[in-house]
Amino acid sequence: MIGSQSFRRACSKFATGITIATVLAPDGTPHGLTINSFTSVSMDPPLVLVCIDRNANVLPYFQDAKSFAISVLEESQQAESNRFAARGEDRFKGVAWHAAPSGAPLIDGALAHFDCVVYQAVEAGDHTIFIGEVTDLHVQDGRPLLYFASAYQQLA
Ligand SMILES: Cc1cc2nc3c(=O)[nH]c(=O)nc-3n(C[C@H](O)[C@H](O)[C@H](O)COP(=O)(O)O)c2cc1C
Repeated sequence: MIGSQSFRRACSKFATGITIATVLAPDGTPHGLTINSFTSVSMDPPLVLVCIDRNANVLPYFQDAKSFAISVLEESQQAESNRFAARGEDRFKGVAWHAAPSGAPLIDGALAHFDCVVYQAVEAGDHTIFIGEVTDLHVQDGRPLLYFASAYQQLA
């Protein structure tokens, strides 16, 4: 039997970047959350995935959406990462963003933007895996915000 603490600790040894996954609700309201489970999946077609906790308040917006977007955070965007992981506030308040071609929100200043059509949603334990087909992207130079051992890190 694997304990949840030791499982968490072992997973935390895998260094990742940090992204914000976003959707636009039918009423035009943007929603999003901080995600480090982002992974590229396939080249042809170009697919990426994010895993979203089934208890996340934003989950229904992703379940209802035909598209979502991913913003890969830059080193200076730790505040945005904290903001999109915190409960009970308007996450987009004071955050500069613009709409992707699909309408999904893209966080300004990110290192990369992926605009995705939902390709598949897979229930997996206590998370839902959203696989997106990338329909548009944008890249800019800069240094990444990193996450390792449950803490923010920067490239040396
Ligand atoms: C660095 C970092 C990475 C995270 N990665 C994920 C993730 O991959 N999947 C996920 O469901 N939650 C992840 N979270 C937690 C969510 O951001 C947080 O639980 C969520 O914003 C809660 O949103 P809610 O208000 O929709 O419930 C991460 C948080 C942080 C700080």
